[in-house]
Amino acid sequence: MSVLIIAGSSRSESVNRKLQQRICEVAEADGRACYAYQAAELDAPIYNGDDEQENGVPSNIQKLASAINDATKVVIVTPEYNSSIPPLLKNAIDWTTRLEQNPWVGKTVLLAGASPGRLGAMRAMTHLMVVMGAVQSWVAPMFLSCPQASDDTIAKFDSEQIKNFLKQGD
Ligand code: FNR
Repeated sequence: MSVLIIAGSSRSESVNRKLQQRICEVAEADGRACYAYQAAELDAPIYNGDDEQENGVPSNIQKLASAINDATKVVIVTPEYNSSIPPLLKNAIDWTTRLEQNPWVGKTVLLAGASPGRLGAMRAMTHLMVVMGAVQSWVAPMFLSCPQASDDTIAKFDSEQIKNFLKQGD
């Protein structure tokens, strides 16, 4: 039983990477094997069919697909850009569905997100829910939202709430 946690921002001070770390700590303390995926490894050229024909699927995306295949469940921690999903994340997801075997089919996916604003990336998560349904994953109904995200609010995020969130799909 292992949890792969993907953060959708590679920014050094990213609040979503900090939430990813917090979820990972709680998961491990709760006896779950946890793998925090490096956001920089989501990096790939913006999808283009000509590029795909010439060069195939980028190696970062193949690595990501292997990590998804190896995991029992996947948590995606998304930033919110203009009420939606950031391009780094959407592009990586789009590329994964170009592989011979789409790694998302039937996979349990849990959605989390952090933002300094009051809505805590909820709008991005509702968009991500639609995308993850389209790639045929099973999306857990309860989201984990961290509004007014800062070092302090993330450190104080209720561990019971995170544990309950992680139980989905057990
Ligand atoms: C944002 N941000 C933002 N926040 C929010 O709550 N709702 C939004 O719609 C947006 N829109 C938005 C657009 C763009 C282009 C940027 C760059 C930022 C703010 C965003 O939540 C904030 O920068 C976070 O810190 C980004 O996440 P990371 O990189 O800290 O994980």
